[in-house]
Amino acid sequence: MSRLVIVSNRVSKPRETRAGGLASALNSALAEHGGLWFGWSGRVIAEDPGEISVERIGQIDYALTDLNEREYSAYYQGFSNRTLWPLLHMRPDLLDFRRENLHGYRAVNRRFAELLATQLRSDDTIWVHDYHLIPLGSELRRLGIKSRIGFFLHVPFPSPDVLTMLPEHRSLFESLGAYDLVGTQTESDQQAVADYCERELGASHDGSGNLSLPDGGRFVCKAFPISIDPELISRNAALAMHSKAHRDLVASLSGRALAISVDRLDYSKGLPERFEAFARFLETYPQHRSRISMMQIAPVTRGDVPEYQELRARLEQLAGAINGRYADPDWVPIRYINRSFHQANLAGFYRSARIGLVTPMRDGMNLVAKEYVAAQSAEDPGVLVLSRFAGAARELPEALLVNPHDADDTSNAIHTALAMPLDERRLRWQAMSNTLRGHTIGDWRRSFLEVLAAS
Ligand code: UDP
Ligand code: G6P
Repeated sequence: MSRLVIVSNRVSKPRETRAGGLASALNSALAEHGGLWFGWSGRVIAEDPGEISVERIGQIDYALTDLNEREYSAYYQGFSNRTLWPLLHMRPDLLDFRRENLHGYRAVNRRFAELLATQLRSDDTIWVHDYHLIPLGSELRRLGIKSRIGFFLHVPFPSPDVLTMLPEHRSLFESLGAYDLVGTQTESDQQAVADYCERELGASHDGSGNLSLPDGGRFVCKAFPISIDPELISRNAALAMHSKAHRDLVASLSGRALAISVDRLDYSKGLPERFEAFARFLETYPQHRSRISMMQIAPVTRGDVPEYQELRARLEQLAGAINGRYADPDWVPIRYINRSFHQANLAGFYRSARIGLVTPMRDGMNLVAKEYVAAQSAEDPGVLVLSRFAGAARELPEALLVNPHDADDTSNAIHTALAMPLDERRLRWQAMSNTLRGHTIGDWRRSFLEVLAAS
């Protein structure tokens, strides 16, 4: 069996609490298979980064490199998170394009490829992840690497009309042709890749995912919805019921219902709209005031990027205003927490919550939605309120699907969830649980690698 080499900007070692679907998913995927995981150490240094450090933990070799300040600013903060992230999440109004950041992005992809090449064996299977590393495959090919190379995009791929707003988009996206397989979260993302390649790169598409570029490059594009380990989360949730954190949370609720939300503090997650919708709910259904609390766990992410700082300030203001307006001496409507929690603790919190409120404006998949379902007890499951614009909505139609732009829609769904009879909650939950158990993170990894091997 060939060795699996995973490449991603963000790497998370065991026992690190790392908010982000990519880190969660790759951790679970590699836990079973083992291999090499190459990426950024998370450190930013003043001088030029030197060699990579390699450390073996369990079955995984972690090969990490630092970024220097210039790289961090141009590649990570700049082109990845102020250009590609807003563009891919359909926020062209937030797009900040600077040519020097694009150059820095390309330079880091080149440096990563050169470092990685020193670690590779000829029969390795290489799997590159996410928008930070789109040109990595073509840089590896330039260095003569002949192995199979797959790419998986964790975020949405929007329509060509949006992508073409990016200056120099062709030179970036034509590098997809260096991969043997390009994986997307949903079929509509897959279709968008084909549409873009046909329209902007002159590719031909056979209608079943095989794309040929005019320069002779060929690749397969297919949807592989990412998933979770539902057994593990269910076990963790059951164990967490005996924990102090769980007991403290339940005691603090004094019998009130809990609606839980867990998101990185990111504008794609629809946090201000969610807070507004919760306020609308308290206004429209005053009988529920003081009967339910919403807990928003929102660890800060990309905190030195201006758009994220503005969002943080806005949320603080909004949470303060809503709590100021509706709170009683013994009850606050919104518990707003900026720290991150270990997944085992989150599983317990999910199980304690009558409602999982997951309402991103746009999301590639959203693993929190799946984790919330997996953590519920079969006897008395909670209700998932889910944005139509999360990739997970395609697989979980039994959730209460809402349009996060419509505060009344979300408010009504919270009301429906609270009023839902046990029989209906069980039916909906069983259907979603079957879906999750029928397609786990292990199945995701296996199916991608099988198609890659055959591409
Ligand atoms: N997460 C975590 N601790 C936290 C907050 C989030 O471990 O305090 C994890 C969460 O369990 C999930 C991931 O971060 O696995 C978030 O993934 P999701 O797909 O929902 O969103 P993303 O952050 O990738 O946009
Ligand atoms: C999303 C992206 C990942 C990223 C994660 C956390 O899930 O798709 O690539 O790792 O957010 O963001 P960060 O910038 O902290 O890596």
